[in-house]
Amino acid sequence: MTTVLKASPRRFVSTPSIERVAARALRYLQSGFSVHLRGPAGTGKTTMALHLADLLSRPIMLLFGDDEFKTSDLIGNQSGYTRKKVVDNYIHSVVKVEDELRQNWVDSRLTLACREGFTLVYDEFNRSRPEVNNVLLSALEEKLLVLPPNNNRSDYIRVNPHFRAIFTSNPEEYCGVHDTQDALMDRLITINMPEPDELTQQEIAIQKTGIDRESAQLIVSLVRSFRSRTGAEKTSGLRSCLMLAKICHEHEILALPENPEFRDVCQDVLLSRAGLALTEATHLLWEVFNEMIATHAMQLEAEKHAPHSRVIPMVNAARSANDALDEFDLVAEDETGDETEDETGNETANGFPEVDLSQPVQVEETAAPVPPESLPLKKKRKSTAQSSLLTAPTAEGEI
Ligand SMILES: Nc1ncnc2c1ncn2[C@@H]1O[C@H](COP(=O)(O)OP(=O)(O)OP(=O)(O)O)[C@@H](O)[C@H]1O
Ligand SMILES: [Mg+2]
Repeated sequence: MTTVLKASPRRFVSTPSIERVAARALRYLQSGFSVHLRGPAGTGKTTMALHLADLLSRPIMLLFGDDEFKTSDLIGNQSGYTRKKVVDNYIHSVVKVEDELRQNWVDSRLTLACREGFTLVYDEFNRSRPEVNNVLLSALEEKLLVLPPNNNRSDYIRVNPHFRAIFTSNPEEYCGVHDTQDALMDRLITINMPEPDELTQQEIAIQKTGIDRESAQLIVSLVRSFRSRTGAEKTSGLRSCLMLAKICHEHEILALPENPEFRDVCQDVLLSRAGLALTEATHLLWEVFNEMIATHAMQLEAEKHAPHSRVIPMVNAARSANDALDEFDLVAEDETGDETEDETGNETANGFPEVDLSQPVQVEETAAPVPPESLPLKKKRKSTAQSSLLTAPTAEGEI
């Protein structure tokens, strides 16, 4: 039995950059072309493909590329037999027996989609061997699907005009991926999907995990700096961000580099993905922690010197470019409505002391470094007039 899917847009997060890709792809699909989303792992290709399929409002056939695939897995095959036996004893002295054995043909997903005009989502199609995908060539161009010869049915299926195909793939240098035949690539419109921008990653983290905006910002920028140091290009940082955000949110781990618990989670999630020796990756991660702590300390110093306006959370800078996010409350932790006092005694909302960023600020020398574990971790992010740099781990893997 072949199952038809209906995609649910329930948790699809849309930001201006995602919308742009979706609008382009949808345009191509509406004009009858097949779309191919290509990019490194974790950039949101499968999610986007399902979202597009949902926008087409047709039933979806989902297919995952596989090295073991045969053409029959795409189009269908003979499955079992039907036997028909007629015993004719019309004249009592004569018995006529007719015995007929027929092979049953069972459509596979591509055939069904072509026949009924469904949307085919062929995820990671270049994991199937190229010759297996040859059957798609005529289906996409001549709108004819060619089936193996059989006496009981037609050898060709005319492709339903509603049929659309959306492909996704990882670049060819990936392990387990085959080259794609030029003829197939020539029939597709390929949209390259790079790693989502910072704002998109934050929004996805916030909406998928429920983490607060400030923590999401910190996680995304931490993962970005670490990945740019390690030169990771094969994957996107989005999955790492989602993992960190989910763990921190569900287990109430304060997402601050001063927090040893948070640093442990970061190591577990990030080090193995760096593609570097463990010591080197650990060292680089520690550099990122230190840099973030130093920046935080400078920010706090700046707050001391200019107490009468708000620190603008980083995300506000992106606000003008992102009207679609107006519905979001971009100020961190606004819902609590907590009123706190900064060190100069000025009352501020949400623990952000007031600073006028348009004025030049003098930064005093920061407090003497203390071991990270001894730093007080306050519930509120305001905290740490006494931030300090971390010392790099000594033993391999031990921090
Ligand atoms: N627009 C989005 N809205 C909500 N979640 C998203 C969005 N884009 C990506 N994600 C989430 O990011 C993660 C990675 O996305 P996805 O699996 O689509 O990436 P991919 O490019 O198909 O990766 P791979 O190449 O490894 O298959 C998933 O957990 C997915 O739910
Ligand atoms: Mg995928």
